[in-house]
Amino acid sequence: MAEKILILGSEGQVGTDLAAQLRSIYGKNNVVCSDIKPATEENQDLGPYEVLNVLDREAIEVVFAKYKPTMVYHLAAMLSATAEKFPRKGWDLNMEGMFSIFDACIDHGVKRVFWPSSIAVFGPTTPRIMTPQHCVMDPNTIYGISKLAGERFCEYYFEKYGLDVRSIRYPGLIGWKALPGGGTTDYAVDIFHKALARNTYTCFLKEDTGLPMMYMDDAIKATINVTEADSNLVQIRSSYNLSGMSFDPKTLADEITRQHPGFTINYEIDARQQIAESWPQSIDDSMAKEHWGWKPDFDLEAMVKEMLHQLQANDMVVG
Ligand code: SER
Repeated sequence: MAEKILILGSEGQVGTDLAAQLRSIYGKNNVVCSDIKPATEENQDLGPYEVLNVLDREAIEVVFAKYKPTMVYHLAAMLSATAEKFPRKGWDLNMEGMFSIFDACIDHGVKRVFWPSSIAVFGPTTPRIMTPQHCVMDPNTIYGISKLAGERFCEYYFEKYGLDVRSIRYPGLIGWKALPGGGTTDYAVDIFHKALARNTYTCFLKEDTGLPMMYMDDAIKATINVTEADSNLVQIRSSYNLSGMSFDPKTLADEITRQHPGFTINYEIDARQQIAESWPQSIDDSMAKEHWGWKPDFDLEAMVKEMLHQLQANDMVVG
């Protein structure tokens, strides 16, 4: 049977890139996009689109009945910095949104579901260097707590209800097609826009705050690979550690200056510093490599080159 794919949160940072890639694989009519807001003008004619709130179970029912998806990518969530400002709303969106989509998937016999977790599931007493798959997890942000609870439910739904959920712990994601919204790792995208618009950037994290990061093409590859892998290869049913590269703001700025001479950075630290300090600096993703063949393509130099090139070539710089 031909696949019919439904994406929740398709207008977000990951959704924008994922939708484009899935359309090119499955054909535009087989990828149904949805988000709480109407599609942007550029996205309007790209394929079927539904305005959908993941908390509205009736509307979800209508969309599932209409399109009969075989695979679902549930990306709608509130990120770390915004959820700290609106804790209750963040918890409700991230948890209730997950339940309503997982339950609809069971009711409608959806074959596979992808649900993203994050490095935010780790916390201050987690080992910070080459953080193992299995270790102390004591997240202290609403976002991280919701992601850790969500991971437990991924495994629970798989074990108890047979729902074939796949998940990875995204590091900070860096892409040029869409802006991130409300995350702690957003600086690593903003910096490119400001570098190209003004040749200078004010960073909200300290210069030596190392975090795991990944170029969006790698993240999309991992997302599709883990979702399409044979079921017996996916041995971890909570969420996989995933690594691309690790750097701090100074190292990123130095590489941008090398490729884009004259660029300078300065620092004005805000509340996101505290969140960043509770997260790992680097991730051990050997299980993703072993189980379903994960391999990233982009290192720091290649990512910076791509970002500077694509933002300019596609006229996407937001100053
Ligand atoms: N990039 C996310 C954030 O900063 C982490 O998953 O919130």
